[in-house]
Amino acid sequence: MMNSISPSILAPLVRGLCMHAVNAPRVVVTGAGSVPAGALTIDLAAAFEKNDAEGADNGFNSEAEAAAKTMGEAYAAWEFESAPSGADAVRPEPLKKQPSCIALTRGGENLGVFWIDRDIDAARRRAESRDDSFIEEPIPSRDAAEEIIPAGLSAQNRRDVVRNRIALVTGGAQGFGEQIVLGLAASGALVFIADLNIKGAETLAKKINKALGRTAAIAASLDVTSEDSAETLFNTIAETAGGLDLCISNAGVLQAGSVMDQELKSFRFTTEVNYFGYFIIAKFASRLLALQHLTAPAWKTDIIQINSKSGLEGSNKNGAYAGAKFGGIGLTESFALELVAHNIKVNSICPGNFLNGPLWSDPEKGLFVQYLQAGKVPGARTTADVRAFYEKKVPMKRGCEGADVMRAIYYIIEQDYETGQAVPVTGGQNMLH
Ligand SMILES: NC(=O)c1ccc[n+]([C@@H]2O[C@H](COP(=O)([O-])OP(=O)(O)OC[C@H]3O[C@@H](n4cnc5c(N)ncnc54)[C@H](O)[C@@H]3O)[C@@H](O)[C@H]2O)c1
Repeated sequence: MMNSISPSILAPLVRGLCMHAVNAPRVVVTGAGSVPAGALTIDLAAAFEKNDAEGADNGFNSEAEAAAKTMGEAYAAWEFESAPSGADAVRPEPLKKQPSCIALTRGGENLGVFWIDRDIDAARRRAESRDDSFIEEPIPSRDAAEEIIPAGLSAQNRRDVVRNRIALVTGGAQGFGEQIVLGLAASGALVFIADLNIKGAETLAKKINKALGRTAAIAASLDVTSEDSAETLFNTIAETAGGLDLCISNAGVLQAGSVMDQELKSFRFTTEVNYFGYFIIAKFASRLLALQHLTAPAWKTDIIQINSKSGLEGSNKNGAYAGAKFGGIGLTESFALELVAHNIKVNSICPGNFLNGPLWSDPEKGLFVQYLQAGKVPGARTTADVRAFYEKKVPMKRGCEGADVMRAIYYIIEQDYETGQAVPVTGGQNMLH
């Protein structure tokens, strides 16, 4: 029981509640101290007692479900009471009000005080100064054209695809992950950069926050092969920002080798990170997203796996990697079928070779150097020859770039009507059958 009412459970419920009310992303910061006067205070005692009495099953879902129901009712009552009345009610209302502080109690016991705003800096400022004035969300004015052209047909809201959303990128310290972090942060998201290389993640977060003049990135330590590490990360995300909208499972490793002599240890390591790692991240991400969904039933969220063209087609002397990536698509399809009930979409992106990224271009241990030394490309005398060989394989004659992957990410998030897909981004090298 004590565990199930920790801030890492309650904060996502508060976040979902607030997003549901205004259909916009919110950041929720867990505060300290007493309940401020302007807070919407919701007493969960009855919800928990009813739940205690009703079932032997006091598990995570039934507890959270009972709390979510009580919170929804309390919020609706608050909205009704604070709605403009009399003359005010007839005036056109351009703003929708939302409490900026929600306190959850259980009888007299304070379970948590949560501060809400559009972005983490604003929510943190409120928590520090205990500013409990309303958040005012503009109600979008109806475009005259919408009378005949339904909303969603024009591209006008496309630049807001990830604005103010909360994202996680695993393996975000370098390579494709770094590109995705930069792209999301520049587009207005708050990004958790989770990596085994915490120094690299911290350096990147610092660089981004300085350049953008806001908290756009937060570094976190993660080993995707460890359930404990993943659980700690998702609890940290819930307690720091209130929840998540987008989980990008990107961390991956490549250890190539012939089926005839690859060490089992190397095969296992590649499988652990690329395949098991995706399962572990999807497991803890979906728990958090499903919790938030209890109070935000219409809000759609995404889990996106960065797969590979090697998940669509075999890769010579690279079976461990291709096998794990093929398996990843099986996981994506299966998770998508299950998680659609929680409005979580699950998709994979299958990029071609990131020839300009560190995996290939690192001057000491990059694949160009390795393949040259191993004689993998017949006749190649320099790393430039190796690069030319791989570029020639692509109908569009170049490697995949971060921007190409970002376009696929924006497509998947914006596309409301698709899940369980593997989207190739390969310059025509892989075509779906
Ligand atoms: N580079 C390519 O050509 C290419 C092509 C297609 C797909 N991909 C996929 O893109 C993803 C990123 O690849 P990249 O080339 O950018 O890799 P990279 O080696 O440049 O970066 C990988 C990042 O993941 C981190 N990482 C490794 N193991 C981890 C673990 N156990 N827990 C947490 N973090 C870990 C590393 O510290 C590093 O920051 C991978 O899933 C890869 O399979 C890469």
